[in-house]
Amino acid sequence: MNILILGSGGRESAFAWKISQSPKCSNLFIAPGNGGTGSYGKNVNLSVTDFKGIGKFVLENQVDLVLVGPEEPLVKGIHDYFLADSSLKKVPVIGPQQEGAKLEGSKDFSKEFMQRHQIPTAAYKTFTKETLTEGLSYLETHRLPIVLKADGLAAGKGVLICETLDDGKAELTAMLKDAKFGEASSRVVIEEFLAGIELSVFVLTDGENYKILPSAKDYKRIGEGDTGLNTGGMGSISPVPFATPEFLDKVEKRIVIPTINGLKQDNIPYKGFIFIGLMNVGGEPYVIEYNVRMGDPETESVIPRIENDFVELLSATANGTLSEVELRVSSKIAATIMIVSGGYPGEYLKGKTISGIDNVRDSLVFQAGTEFENGLVKTAGGRVLAITSLQDTLFDAVQHAVTDAGRIYFDARYFRTDIGFDIL
Ligand code: AMP
Ligand code: GLY
Repeated sequence: MNILILGSGGRESAFAWKISQSPKCSNLFIAPGNGGTGSYGKNVNLSVTDFKGIGKFVLENQVDLVLVGPEEPLVKGIHDYFLADSSLKKVPVIGPQQEGAKLEGSKDFSKEFMQRHQIPTAAYKTFTKETLTEGLSYLETHRLPIVLKADGLAAGKGVLICETLDDGKAELTAMLKDAKFGEASSRVVIEEFLAGIELSVFVLTDGENYKILPSAKDYKRIGEGDTGLNTGGMGSISPVPFATPEFLDKVEKRIVIPTINGLKQDNIPYKGFIFIGLMNVGGEPYVIEYNVRMGDPETESVIPRIENDFVELLSATANGTLSEVELRVSSKIAATIMIVSGGYPGEYLKGKTISGIDNVRDSLVFQAGTEFENGLVKTAGGRVLAITSLQDTLFDAVQHAVTDAGRIYFDARYFRTDIGFDIL
């Protein structure tokens, strides 16, 4: 089979690494890919939202399956674009159509979905510019802290947690009246604050059947001890020790099954990944958010633990035969450390030469914000490399990943050394 992966991050590197091991994959393409993906397949210089260019490439290169990494092309309707074209519609796309992608693309849609299907989540109300006055009065009766969420995609910045009523009112006004997050905050979800510990569960579904992939936890803050600004993710671990079989059973019965059934009841076709962001509130799972893709850097911890041929899993998803596949997961523990460029998540340097990748001993290196130029790997993004180690204990996995991260060097590199320590 010829396979095209869309995306350019560490997640797509992990997908490419795994798919390149499958005897079923003859040609692997990654668009646009990064400085490392070229060693698993062929990088193709196309943007993930250039649907026309992607469609043309798929036909010219007899691509048999497209795996979509990030949410943007899904929310913009890449799957629908393929289905609407007589030649492209026979090429399966892994990732939902636009309607299903609203689970991530609209917080209001996903909250309504959860409410309709009795899926546990924080209580909420949605407001618009027209109902700003009602929204401000609603806040008066709201318990603190107040969680405000821009309805649309806001590059991971659209959620605000306000500790005071004044702050909540000012932010709600800024979002609705002054378009703080542009069109994305033309609707705002105000929701109850859930106190607990977060984790993520990933589901692969063909629309009828599902497989629950290994759980993971990511570390979003830039600083050690979970301090400082939010990032795309500074590290991850899989599995999550507090996701006991009992807890995961609740997740499956109360959340995964109602989600898959809910999609069917609402006539929303869905073939792809569902990333369920959960809060464990005293042993009870609540959904914080859905994403319609895998997480990054969670994928870099989850994928290496999956023992199946990944192409077989993706084909079964496309063909609606996931129930015939038995998911096999390694009992090893994975820890991923993200090496970032100094300054990230603010302004950061690019074009710095990376050395020492070959010195890594006990870890996998998944390149993210890198480019390959004149035989050198250079930094090209904030999150530069994901270092994943698989060991028998969480402690060893973190130790090896941190040691290996230290073997890689570029100007102003930075990484957290405390990933997983809150649990250890
Ligand atoms: P989201 O973009 O929905 O993932 O939200 C970003 C982050 O805000 C989450 O990862 C949580 O840490 C936090 N968050 C979102 N909703 C809530 C909530 N209802 N209660 C507590 N924290 C929340
Ligand atoms: N690591 C969080 C995300 O991928 O959204």
